[in-house]
Order: sequence, then C-alpha cells, then structure tokens
Amino acid sequence: MADLNITTQNVSRLEGKVALITGGSSGIGLAAAKLFLQRGATVVIGDLRPPKEALEGVSYQTTDITQWKSLVSLFDYCAKQHGQLDIVFANAGVGGPENTFADVLGEDGQLLEPKYLAVQVNLIGLLNTVKLSIHHMRKQNSGGAIVVTASKAGYSAPLGGPIYASTKHGAIGMMRALRRFLPPLNIRLNCIAPGFTDTGMVPEAGVARLRQLGVIVQPSETVALAALFLSTRDDYHARTIQVNNNKFREIEAGYEAASELMFGDKAGGRSSLTPEVLAAVNEIFTTTI
Ligand SMILES: NC(=O)c1ccc[n+]([C@@H]2O[C@H](COP(=O)([O-])OP(=O)(O)OC[C@H]3O[C@@H](n4cnc5c(N)ncnc54)[C@H](O)[C@@H]3O)[C@@H](O)[C@H]2O)c1
Repeated sequence: MADLNITTQNVSRLEGKVALITGGSSGIGLAAAKLFLQRGATVVIGDLRPPKEALEGVSYQTTDITQWKSLVSLFDYCAKQHGQLDIVFANAGVGGPENTFADVLGEDGQLLEPKYLAVQVNLIGLLNTVKLSIHHMRKQNSGGAIVVTASKAGYSAPLGGPIYASTKHGAIGMMRALRRFLPPLNIRLNCIAPGFTDTGMVPEAGVARLRQLGVIVQPSETVALAALFLSTRDDYHARTIQVNNNKFREIEAGYEAASELMFGDKAGGRSSLTPEVLAAVNEIFTTTI
C-alpha cells in the first residue's frame, strides 16, 4: 500500500484524448468533466439529466445506464462524433437510505419483493458500461483506460447499506476478475474508492451534520483528481486509489498481502492451486472476453 501525492501539476495532460464520463452531470463526475476539460481532453457526458452547470466544449447525451439501448447510443455517439474513445470514467451511481431487509408488506398483507435500483445502476449498468468500453477500445491499437467509481464501501461496509455495499464489492470483484484479460487488449482498468464526498448523493443537511461532528466530507474535486491520475498512468492496472479525508492511497496491494495470508502457499501450505490445478480450473471454467 502506498500513500500518493496527486496534484494537477504532477499528472499528464490529455490533449488529443476523448473521455466519456457516465454520471458526469453532478458531483464527482461533473468535477472530473471540468478537470479533464482543463487538462485538454474532449469530454462526453452520459447522464439522466444535463450537467448542473453549463460546460463549454463538453457534449452531453441523455443516457440511462440501466437501459442497454441508451448506453449503446452513448458509445455510438462518441465513436461517430470523435472516431476514438481513450478514457471511460464509469462513475454513474445511486445510494441513499435502504430498507431491503425490513418487512414491507403489500396491500394483500404479503411481503413485497424489494426493488434493487442500486444493483441495476451500480452493478448491471456498470458491467454494461465496461463491456461497451472494451468493445470500442479493443478495436484501437492504442487501447484505452477505464476508471470505475467504486467506494470505501467496496472494501468495508460498517456504515453503508447492504445493497450499496454489495454493488461496490461487485465493482471491485469485476476489476480483479478482468485483470488478466485486459493487458493483451492494451486496456487498463482501475477503481477509485471515495469516502464521504460532498455531492448530490449526500443531502446538504447530512453533510453539515457530519462536518459539525468533525468528519471530513471532502470536495468532489479531490476525488476527480484520482480519476484523472488513473486515466493517465500507463503503469496502473487493476489498482484502487482510496480517496478519504482528502488523501490518496493505493489499497489493492493491501488486499493482495491479506489474500496471501488467507489463501497463499506460504501460509501453512493451505493452497492447493498448483500449476496443474490452475490449468484444469481454467479449462473447466473457460472464460473469454
Ligand atoms: N458522495 C459520496 O460520498 C460517495 C462515496 C463513495 C462513492 N461514491 C460514488 O460516486 C459516484 C458518483 O456519485 P456522486 O457522489 O458524485 O453523486 P451525484 O448524485 O452527485 O452524481 C451521480 C450522477 O449519476 C447520475 N446517474 C444516476 N443514475 C443514473 C443512470 N441510471 N444513468 C445515468 N446516470 C445516472 C445522476 O444523475 C448524477 O448526475 C457514484 O458511483 C457513487 O456511488 C460517492
């Protein structure tokens, strides 16, 4: 694990790059759109609603990432308009109060089936965003960079709701499982894991209350810096930058160290994953992308 010092000064510029941002009309996505623009990129935003403030030089497409056709149109627009797609910041997401495991009854007195909006947006919408990113980027020799907005709740979830935490753990799991498939396509995929951030997702009164209690609720601009960093650094793949209390830390290395303790050969010979077993597992559970 390493603490990182990220500033606009020590991150490369993005001249000639085309960046697509989902959920770019508010909060972290909007801050990223402004930052990417400042750093020279051409920016396309896909969101349910237009950006909260007018951004000269940024194009906006009304997009619902839970709708396949809507998402396909967004990527097609980008391809037709700009002929390339270098960066995708897969950031759209929803959070908020949850009562999925409470007993909510319908008019007939029977338990109602919960609605899983966060799963639709944060997980299925995300998987489809990444699928379409790979579809477009694999056609380019230059490949591309995908940055996913996960969350601190993708690693530990003592505070978040169980559905939100499931989706963010899912985002991290997706990144780990895609890890070996993307380098041959010249595609890099990394995550950011923000802590409390002052955005449309956290009610203003909630932000004020947390701050009164001494909690640091960081600005979205800080989080956007981590997305910019990962978009530009060729040496980063399958890494997560946690952005918490305005500080940056790469945390997948910590997971890998813990993973070695839990499953590794070094920890008391518990692992049965010999090269022969690994080859067999690869054949049995054939995965292609
Ligand atoms: N704010 C925090 O404290 C915090 C912490 C950790 C992670 N995050 C994550 O950051 C990401 C960005 O959220 P934010 O905090 O900036 O909140 P936000 O509400 O300000 O921005 C989210 C954006 O996503 C868009 N969106 C929602 N559903 C969509 C859909 N179906 N299709 C297209 N766009 C959609 C919204 O319209 C909005 O513009 C989310 O993935 C969120 O889970 C936020």
